[in-house]
Amino acid sequence: MKVLVTGGAGYIGSHTCIEVLKNCHDLCIVDNLSNSKKDSLERVKQITNKEFSFHNVDICDYSSLMNVFKTFKPEAVIHFAGHKSINESINEPLKYYYNNVFGSINLLKVMDSNDCFNIVFSSSATVYGKPEYVPIDELHRVQPENPYGQSKLAVENILRDWSGKNKKSFILRYFNPIGAHESGLIGECSNSVPNNLIPYIEEVILGKQAALRIFGNDYDTKDGTGVRDFIHVEDLANSHVQALESFMKITDYEVLNIGTGIGASVLEILDCYNNEIGYKLPFSIESRRQGDVSVSIANPSKAENKIGWKAAFTYSDAIKSSRNWKTKNPNGYSN
Ligand code: NAD
Ligand code: WQD
Repeated sequence: MKVLVTGGAGYIGSHTCIEVLKNCHDLCIVDNLSNSKKDSLERVKQITNKEFSFHNVDICDYSSLMNVFKTFKPEAVIHFAGHKSINESINEPLKYYYNNVFGSINLLKVMDSNDCFNIVFSSSATVYGKPEYVPIDELHRVQPENPYGQSKLAVENILRDWSGKNKKSFILRYFNPIGAHESGLIGECSNSVPNNLIPYIEEVILGKQAALRIFGNDYDTKDGTGVRDFIHVEDLANSHVQALESFMKITDYEVLNIGTGIGASVLEILDCYNNEIGYKLPFSIESRRQGDVSVSIANPSKAENKIGWKAAFTYSDAIKSSRNWKTKNPNGYSN
């Protein structure tokens, strides 16, 4: 298949590009490098030893995107490009609606004009908002609590309306992606102080942050700290290829949770890191973080039924891979 990946230089995109190439599809990447570096793509080349094209293009730029489509003629698109910070989306909602929603509409218009009718879209478990029950299945009501989540849901709704009459969409709702490629050559790379648990712990290990602040130990969970479904980025990457290769099985639109079905608490994650590094990391207990939910765990059985995908790695595997990446690249791609 000829596959165009938007946002392919980013964290999840670069791992997925490896899977796309490994499975012998032709690859074209579009990324404006607003939150990534071209080095990630050089490393994708190093890992796969396969050719692909790259275009430094903004998906909001209709005519440049048209040129890429006219030259490459993709049969399917995997659409990662977008902004992803919840906090930033609260402070700058229009930036999020413009890039994530307008950018996606622009992409669909260009796809329509070029007879490209298959798309896999990166959505997020954040569209569920505060869970009414766990594990969360795809029938759970959606109620995003921030502009980022609203922008994801808006694109899901647009895709639902766009799909049908030969047009097909897979909506993948990721839970908590973590970890890095087994080579340690690519991984998550943040320019600012990270908000997420795993990148923050990595900074504590590297001495860039003094201690982990645990946001709440009074939740109704096994040890009082928040519980999440951490999914290895290599499993996540693989789910996109499984979706690509399953378009013939669907008629219009499918929403799939991408998670392991297993929850780990913040303290369990910290313990796992302590075992990995052989000493105890400093931490403090702080008050709950605004907007956090107590537990978020996927019911991933629909993904197994529809596209034959199931997570193979545990959070402990993902933590090992993250350590490998950060040990080899303490400053990300800039070292
Ligand atoms: P990322 O920021 O590393 O990757 C996104 C990529 O898109 C970057 O390379 C960025 O330069 C590019 N991009 C952004 N706007 C663009 C535009 N207008 N035109 C072209 N390129 C553009 O993020 P990620 O973690 O790899 O996430 C990928 C997708 O998955 C995002 O859509 C995100 O919302 C979604 N997602 C991420 C998570 C997570 O925890 N990382 C969870 C759920 C969903
Ligand atoms: C996990 C747990 C924190 C940092 C986010 C987005 C979600 C999705 C994935 C994009 C929580 C606790 C964290 C720290 C801590 N992204 N924590 N100290 O919030 O579940 O999900 O990333 O779509 O939309 O919201 O992930 O890693 O920030 O937090 O105690 O320094 O770790 O309170 O319980 P979250 P996270």
